[in-house]
Amino acid sequence: MKNRSIILAKRPIGNPKSDDFALHEGELPDIQDNEILVKNFAISLDAGFRNWMNEDAGDEILPAMPLGEPVMGLSLCEVIETKNSEYAVGDKLMARFAWQEYSIGKPGDFIAKLPRDLSFPYSYYLGVLGDTGMSAYFALTEIAPPKEGQTVLISAAGGAVGSIAGQIAKIYGARAVGISSSPEKCNFLINDLGYDAAVNRKAPEGQAEAIKAVCPDGVDIFLDNVGGETLQAAITNMNHRGRIVMIGAVTHYTSEGPPTAPNNLFELSSKEITAQGLMTHFRHDEYDAVRQQLETWLSEGKLKSFEHKLNGIENVAVAFCQMFDGKNFGKTVVDL
Ligand SMILES: NC(=O)c1ccc[n+]([C@@H]2O[C@H](COP(=O)([O-])OP(=O)(O)OC[C@H]3O[C@@H](n4cnc5c(N)ncnc54)[C@H](OP(=O)(O)O)[C@@H]3O)[C@@H](O)[C@H]2O)c1
Repeated sequence: MKNRSIILAKRPIGNPKSDDFALHEGELPDIQDNEILVKNFAISLDAGFRNWMNEDAGDEILPAMPLGEPVMGLSLCEVIETKNSEYAVGDKLMARFAWQEYSIGKPGDFIAKLPRDLSFPYSYYLGVLGDTGMSAYFALTEIAPPKEGQTVLISAAGGAVGSIAGQIAKIYGARAVGISSSPEKCNFLINDLGYDAAVNRKAPEGQAEAIKAVCPDGVDIFLDNVGGETLQAAITNMNHRGRIVMIGAVTHYTSEGPPTAPNNLFELSSKEITAQGLMTHFRHDEYDAVRQQLETWLSEGKLKSFEHKLNGIENVAVAFCQMFDGKNFGKTVVDL
């Protein structure tokens, strides 16, 4: 059987570009004992995977991605052949598989089983009901739950994590302020996602001043998706005993040298700020319970899913690049 994949052709420098990737067609090998063959029917594009495209990026989650090999990602797939008794044909999975039409799953792979009959459109299980929705949930429930009226500032606020985080902040009665990169996307934050105010990170007065203008009483909680100068500007605006949840650092994944910002970490001491990291991957045991809560909010109309969708394996890398350029309004997904 033929299998089409997107391979890493070059190591991206800065933001990824389409020619860093290439379409490759190969033959699928037969599966061995304990393996499964799945058909990927949607690929999730997640900014964090850009980090593992760097040569020196390997860590306890993933090794650095090898050149010439299919790019690792997250997919939604269905089992079409199995030699593993834990999985039956027809099982639906969310798994860490490569950008391919078909994948072979082995013991030890990161795989979460989904209900056979999905209650919501399948792409929701990669976004609002997947890793990114859950990251927003963990940040605002377990790490830094807001009190009513507190100001929650969120970077990459119109993206996959940010679009859900802003809505959850509102569910808890907080004032939600989002950071994005264009007037059009700032309008999306306010008019579609329900943010109370928006900051354009490209504003000529600089990010710190732009945040101050819409957060005159300071920031109580900052959900950091991007690091760098945005994190520095947020720290400047944090209140005494504010809390920062470090969810991700897009600017560091794409940085061509060592990051030069933030340069104001002493303010964490002087303002007694708590900063805590989050890696949703380590909360795998809680996925089913969290998904139920998010499903309840969706059913009650308190939460909405927004998606930036493309079609076809040949558009997976295109969608990935668009996400870094801020062209995504919500979660980026490609249907295969
Ligand atoms: N800790 C975890 O378990 C976990 C799980 C999932 C995701 N994450 C992290 O969450 C973050 C968001 O991921 P996502 O998949 O939801 O991506 P996303 O927010 O949908 O897309 C990334 C966004 O980052 C912003 N951005 C790009 N370059 C930037 C720059 N130089 N400075 C500031 N902002 C920039 C852009 O938004 P604007 O143009 O609108 O500003 C872009 O659309 C990533 O850091 C990711 O690693 C962490």
